[in-house]
Amino acid sequence: MNRDAPIGIFDSGIGGLSVYKKIRELLPLESVMYVADQIHLPYGSKDLDMVFNYAKAITEFLLSKGCKLIVIACNTACAAALHPLRRVYPSTDFVGMEPAVKPAALRTRTGAVGILATEGTFKGEPYNGVIKRFAQGVKVYEQPCHGLAEAIENGIDDSELHKMLEGFISPLKLKNIDQLALACTHYPLVFDHICKIAGNAIEVIDPAEAIARRVLSLLSDSELLATSPYEGVFYTTAATSTPVSEIVRKYFDSINRCAWSGEQCLEML
Ligand code: DGL
Repeated sequence: MNRDAPIGIFDSGIGGLSVYKKIRELLPLESVMYVADQIHLPYGSKDLDMVFNYAKAITEFLLSKGCKLIVIACNTACAAALHPLRRVYPSTDFVGMEPAVKPAALRTRTGAVGILATEGTFKGEPYNGVIKRFAQGVKVYEQPCHGLAEAIENGIDDSELHKMLEGFISPLKLKNIDQLALACTHYPLVFDHICKIAGNAIEVIDPAEAIARRVLSLLSDSELLATSPYEGVFYTTAATSTPVSEIVRKYFDSINRCAWSGEQCLEML
């Protein structure tokens, strides 16, 4: 394996950029190949079997481009595919999102924590596994945030966003939570808005930094830390008429389109 090969990162859209940013901060030399499956966004309300097929095809695409490690920067795709993909590709290192139930349960003083995620994430093994392992004796309030990832992806205006977030967070405040874990990678893109609505008594947890540290430790253990300068390539499955957002232009040198053939295979355009 070539140590200067890129890290592959994928999400249904730009949400995974919240993880990408932390990886860039911690590992500035690592090149990145990012796939945003924007034509299928949202993943959160889709059948997990369908999301598994997307995740598998994107993984194959990234491996065919020589990626040395894959970060599934999407909690919903992890719910659908993290464990199965590790079985299908036993020699590939996958880093997945783990809903931050453990730090929330360790830090709570009120004994009540809130989790914001998509419907799909709440159904998956990664979330239910961490609940079983780490949430004993703690009250966990799940809040599925229907429509929030799409709204963030589409650049919702601040006042609409505020209303939407209040609808999700206010009921949790009534439960006396003091920890709020963000278990969808789109949500940290509006971190400041979430903190404002949550208020000072609630700590908002974004797990992205922990994910970046995991990438560092895996690459360093396998002596695969990059030595040559960063190069960033972005792929989107969105229709060619869909504009590419500013945040993407800011981070990536090259922006490319790719397309699905038969929903099972991703090809470069
Ligand atoms: N960013 C994603 C997640 O972490 C998916 C949002 C969506 O497509 O519904 O779950």
